[in-house]
Amino acid sequence: MYRPFLPVTEQTPVVTLREGNTPLIPAPAIAAEIGRQVQVWVKYDGLNPTGSFKDRGMTMAISKAKEAGAKAVICASTGNTSAAAAAYARRAGIRAFVVIPDGYVALGKLSQALIYGAEVLSIKGNFDQALKIVREMSEQYPVTLVNSVNPYRLEGQKTAAFEIVDVLGDAPDWLCIPVGNAGNISAYWMGFCQYHQADRCTQLPRMMGFQAAGAAPLISGQPVENPETLATAIRIGNPANWKKAIAVRDASQGAFNAVTDEEILAAYRLLASQEGIFCEPASAASVAGLLKVKDQVPTGATVVCVLTGNGLKDPDAAIAHSNNPLKQCIEPDIEAVAIAMGF
Ligand code: F0G
Repeated sequence: MYRPFLPVTEQTPVVTLREGNTPLIPAPAIAAEIGRQVQVWVKYDGLNPTGSFKDRGMTMAISKAKEAGAKAVICASTGNTSAAAAAYARRAGIRAFVVIPDGYVALGKLSQALIYGAEVLSIKGNFDQALKIVREMSEQYPVTLVNSVNPYRLEGQKTAAFEIVDVLGDAPDWLCIPVGNAGNISAYWMGFCQYHQADRCTQLPRMMGFQAAGAAPLISGQPVENPETLATAIRIGNPANWKKAIAVRDASQGAFNAVTDEEILAAYRLLASQEGIFCEPASAASVAGLLKVKDQVPTGATVVCVLTGNGLKDPDAAIAHSNNPLKQCIEPDIEAVAIAMGF
């Protein structure tokens, strides 16, 4: 459906798991928190085949790598890119090398990369160091880089913006999005601009980017040497798409803000317990950010928050931060169970 907007030809061997077409879900509980008449929607991209938005980019990056005859791809990852790269590369019959920061990749993501058959190495360092290594590897060895510095990744990811416009009938007033390496915000903007040029929408959104407070180089204006946040997906101190992201912010009259881990967790719990939508902590940064700057939302505005990854990616976070204790070791009879339930 979006083929005319994508750099594919008849010759491109399209490697797909039928990604995209994820639901845009109304979020009345978030709208109620804002307290004025606004429409809030979430773009639940955690419902992609490997559970994150990375699939949109990876179908393109791997298809183009295969078209060019690549035998291996490589990426650094906080987890989701590695899961997507592994799935699409193995489906294409290509080797996938993955370099991850030791101890900072959520359980679901690591298990995916391994079972899909990637060759996974963890380094005693962070994502920024891993990215530097794989960039150099791709220059010196016959491996294709599939991080978001690969332009095909952004081409694929822009389709999420198309889908939002196709559902709403126009672009939203605000687009709230978590920012790590800053590829996705750049991809969304490209999508909205291309649709605008093609007369598919009459306006462009303000791009509102949110980083975790302990990993917020785009807000402080300088790289963070030791980024820290429980939202491990966006634990990034020196985004590769830094300049692009600033250009997007300025062109869209948007803004970047930092949200604390506590604010992220509050939004994470709100989404699950009030909206019935389970995303991973990094994804909840978009909602945490919206709530943080809620006084700036114009009355009557339409706001879309991007939920980039599925909550099942990081079950440890859910168990540790749910505020909802498991009632354990109840005697196996109806009386004990009824008492424990408060009847
Ligand atoms: N949300 C999730 C769930 C992510 O996994 C990422 C990035 C982002 C947001 C930020 O997107 O980097 O385009 O600004 N994850 C990368 C990875 C870094 O390796 O999976 P971005």
